[in-house]
Amino acid sequence: MARFTLPRDVYHGKGALEALKTFEGKRAMVCSGGSSMRKGGFLQKVEDYLKEAGMEVEFFEGIESDPSVETVMKGAEAMSKFQPDWIVAIGGGSPIDAAKAMWIKYEYPETTFEDMCKVFGLPKLRTKAKFCAISSTSGTATEVTAFSIITDYQKGIKYPIADFEITPDVAIVDPELAHTMPKKLVAHTGMDAITHAIEAYVSTANCDYTDALAIHSIEMIDESLVSSYNEDMNARDEMHNAQCLAGMAFSNALLGIVHSMAHKTGAIFADHGAHIIHGAANAMYLPKVIAFNARDAVAKKRYGVIADYLHLDGANDDAKVDALIKYVRKLNDDLNIPHSINRYGANGLPADTGFVPEGIFLERLSGIAANAILDACTGSNPRQPSQEEMEMLLKCCYYDTEVDF
Ligand SMILES: NC(=O)c1ccc[n+]([C@@H]2O[C@H](COP(=O)([O-])OP(=O)(O)OC[C@H]3O[C@@H](n4cnc5c(N)ncnc54)[C@H](O)[C@@H]3O)[C@@H](O)[C@H]2O)c1
Ligand SMILES: [Zn+2]
Repeated sequence: MARFTLPRDVYHGKGALEALKTFEGKRAMVCSGGSSMRKGGFLQKVEDYLKEAGMEVEFFEGIESDPSVETVMKGAEAMSKFQPDWIVAIGGGSPIDAAKAMWIKYEYPETTFEDMCKVFGLPKLRTKAKFCAISSTSGTATEVTAFSIITDYQKGIKYPIADFEITPDVAIVDPELAHTMPKKLVAHTGMDAITHAIEAYVSTANCDYTDALAIHSIEMIDESLVSSYNEDMNARDEMHNAQCLAGMAFSNALLGIVHSMAHKTGAIFADHGAHIIHGAANAMYLPKVIAFNARDAVAKKRYGVIADYLHLDGANDDAKVDALIKYVRKLNDDLNIPHSINRYGANGLPADTGFVPEGIFLERLSGIAANAILDACTGSNPRQPSQEEMEMLLKCCYYDTEVDF
């Protein structure tokens, strides 16, 4: 038996934010990130609409990118004081993910972060509050997924919390929120979205329900990502839907080792000046993982199907896999994303010398590989890498060398 779970309601299209007016409840806690939603006037609209629905509203603002365990605990404390019956999370993946974890702690104050990370091991939520997610970036699709990614900064590791209990009750996918995204954010979140769709399509947990969503979202991303990056707002609107469909696919089909590697490299070099931004990490690792996974016969065939939908040339599946790898690398070039960690410079832009020194990378390599293998996304990857293979794969991602194993 397989399970396919999505939010009860998905409001989409311009003006979808107004759906908040129809909510029933007493108190709504609105969780948001930095300042983009406040500046864009969206927090004011959220407050107005919820008040129109007769609710008392309180804000928990300033949730940082790649949110920490500490932020989750603080937010849960604010919730336990205010006792909301709606949690409304608005912004990119970071504030929405943080709010999902706060929700767990609010409903079950005894829960530790370690408890939350037990895959598909959460107790029943919704005893105190329902959850609405409103996305402002076009990538993570956390508004429809069963995941939340929280960073333990003491360990330098991102942990996925995975359980259908945290699939939101309501998702609002209003493209107007995505119009203010700077180009770099469009690039990174867009590559995150295509990685979700491709990993979901070749995942060992794929099914007919997830395949349809994954393939259609890949076609839409192909049509709209580069134009959206170049400030075409119709394409931006299309990307907002495409990333959501990709999320519906991967929330149910799960992901693969591109994400395992991104989770375990994202924060581990933070002591050398920066994070490797989630979407950029995916963009760099995806071509390498396609080459690695294509040695599995079923995965190779499925990459071939993706290549066909993208109208790429190739007389057989091997040639189609090569064409798909070239296609992803071309996307990275079009979006000004580097191909490898040793070229990953300030602000995620290509540089002659990246911010991760070779010596530090090699010193941490075996630990990163071990943690990546243990990541919740590894189990559904079509090929299970050994420690040695994972280290070799990560080296290919560092030096941009060919995967021939
Ligand atoms: N839960 C999931 O299923 C899932 C899936 C993939 C990634 N993630 C996680 O999500 C996080 C990344 O989320 P993200 O890529 O959405 O970025 P983000 O939420 O970290 O936001 C990045 C920056 O963009 C700004 N921003 C957001 N929306 C904006 C807008 N419309 N206009 C202008 N600025 C805006 C934010 O203020 C922030 O400074 C990572 O922690 C990643 O691991 C979660
Ligand atoms: Zn992702």
